[in-house]
Amino acid sequence: MSPSRSKPLKHISYISLLLSTTTGLVQCLQLQSTNEGRLPAMGFNSWNCFNEFIDEKKFLTAAQQLVDLGLKDLGYTYVNIDDGWSDKQAWRDPVTRRIVVDSKKFPNGISGLAEEVHGMGLKLGIYSDRGTKTCASYPGSMDYEEIDAKTFADWGVDYLKYDNCFFPEEEEDKYPWAPEWWNTTHDGNKVTAPEGYDFSTSRSAERYRIMRDALAKQDRIIQFGMCNWGHAHVERWGNETAQSWRIWGDILPQWTSHKDFIAWGVMPILNHALFHLSQTDFWGHADMDMLEVGNGLTEAEDRSHFALWAILKSPLLIGTPLDKISPQTLAVFKNEELIAFNQDAVHGGPAKPYKWGINPDWTWNQTHPAEYYSGNSTRGLHVFMLNTLDTTAVKTAVFSEIPGLDPKKRYRVHEMWGGKDIGDYDREFSIKVESHDIAALRFNEVSEEGIKVQGSGHYARKAPDEL
Ligand SMILES: *[C@@H]1O[C@H](CO)[C@@H](O)[C@H](O)[C@H]1NC(C)=O
Ligand SMILES: *[C@@H]1O[C@H](CO)[C@@H](O)[C@H](O)[C@H]1NC(C)=O
Ligand SMILES: *[C@@H]1O[C@H](CO)[C@@H](O)[C@H](O)[C@H]1NC(C)=O
Ligand SMILES: *[C@@H]1O[C@H](CO)[C@@H](O)[C@H](O)[C@H]1NC(C)=O
Repeated sequence: MSPSRSKPLKHISYISLLLSTTTGLVQCLQLQSTNEGRLPAMGFNSWNCFNEFIDEKKFLTAAQQLVDLGLKDLGYTYVNIDDGWSDKQAWRDPVTRRIVVDSKKFPNGISGLAEEVHGMGLKLGIYSDRGTKTCASYPGSMDYEEIDAKTFADWGVDYLKYDNCFFPEEEEDKYPWAPEWWNTTHDGNKVTAPEGYDFSTSRSAERYRIMRDALAKQDRIIQFGMCNWGHAHVERWGNETAQSWRIWGDILPQWTSHKDFIAWGVMPILNHALFHLSQTDFWGHADMDMLEVGNGLTEAEDRSHFALWAILKSPLLIGTPLDKISPQTLAVFKNEELIAFNQDAVHGGPAKPYKWGINPDWTWNQTHPAEYYSGNSTRGLHVFMLNTLDTTAVKTAVFSEIPGLDPKKRYRVHEMWGGKDIGDYDREFSIKVESHDIAALRFNEVSEEGIKVQGSGHYARKAPDEL
């Protein structure tokens, strides 16, 4: 990470702090501190399953399940508290001005929970807001950024999700801009910014920078996840401000629908993400919101949702109760190959659409966004084919259309849900994909002499797990 950037991760101070200790320790901790935030965060967050009805027991259960179900070993290490952890009555301590923790929900405080969670080899995340109140009307951090950052650090917090509710009128952006109004005439889109306006000078950007800088002053690495729903063109200043930035409204466990202009299904979020892929690379990730896998989508939709979030390199934060998880849902979260793509140490960028499919390329469409994607990982070149139709369809990967595939070469096709090689193909590969399901494939060139070229291959499947 370049030293000119002022993100909150304090590598330099850690490194200098450790120079006085033994060399082995220096190397070990240095590596850990310099890698924090380089790849999309993985873990659990309480909002999608528990809303504000949280307590210490729920987080300890989630943490224990991450360990027991083998999710921790796959990289799911953050246990993130969302809205609802503080005391709405007591608000802030009259003397220290620190936010008061709800002692009924968290009898051992956040620090007590952090200790337990750290003891399991996991990390603890917390939630606050750039305004005076959080979205569920608990205390927000506005004008208390320094105190709150210090408090979180003192408690042993490792991650901060920072929301965008309840700020006073003078904190409104001069030119309000929300992605949900992009192709519509929502009445919030009253004032249009002049051509070339720099959104990193907006009040939104300024407010998020205040918390970034407060976190940077702490002697603890606290990953910063901005949750301003893509407002104020956050994708233009997200990477210099945080490790991740939400690009759209809240997610719903639905495929295409939305609730007002606040919460959206998987396809509308995907549609928007496709127009903002170039801003994601190591150290900074567009956040498509926390996972709704296991919360009511069909099994096919769960697979697509998880795969698309993983391949576009969004953070992977589980939002379903882990003690009640079904084997099917768990299998989706535990897809080691998709996780490896998301967490690739060499290829930082997301998969990209090479063809839209139903609609012409670069069509903005919340029901039928791009269906055909390719991406590189250390394991090979990958092709993902989504079926946005309501019926089963045969999807064909035509080698000449896919950047990085040579139509004159032969490839071994590997299916990532079943984790098996399907066979060797040239020119094209076809596969049957259920409604709202996604084919997840890896292509590796077959270079041995003498393999017989059999013409274009066709392979049909019943269900991915039967492969
Ligand atoms: C929606 O936005 C896309 C991308 O900017 C643009 O190409 C398209 O023309 C817009 N559609 C409408 C109906 O404004
Ligand atoms: C984001 O910033 C980091 C440095 O913090 C840099 O390494 C990375 O390339 C940037 N990402 C993009 C897409 O420019
Ligand atoms: C989305 O695409 C489908 C298929 O082309 C089309 O029928 C539908 O009208 C499009 N939706 C919008 C809002 O343009
Ligand atoms: C993958 O790598 C190949 C080069 O091997 C390149 O042509 C292609 O654009 C890359 N694909 C993506 C999505 O970055």
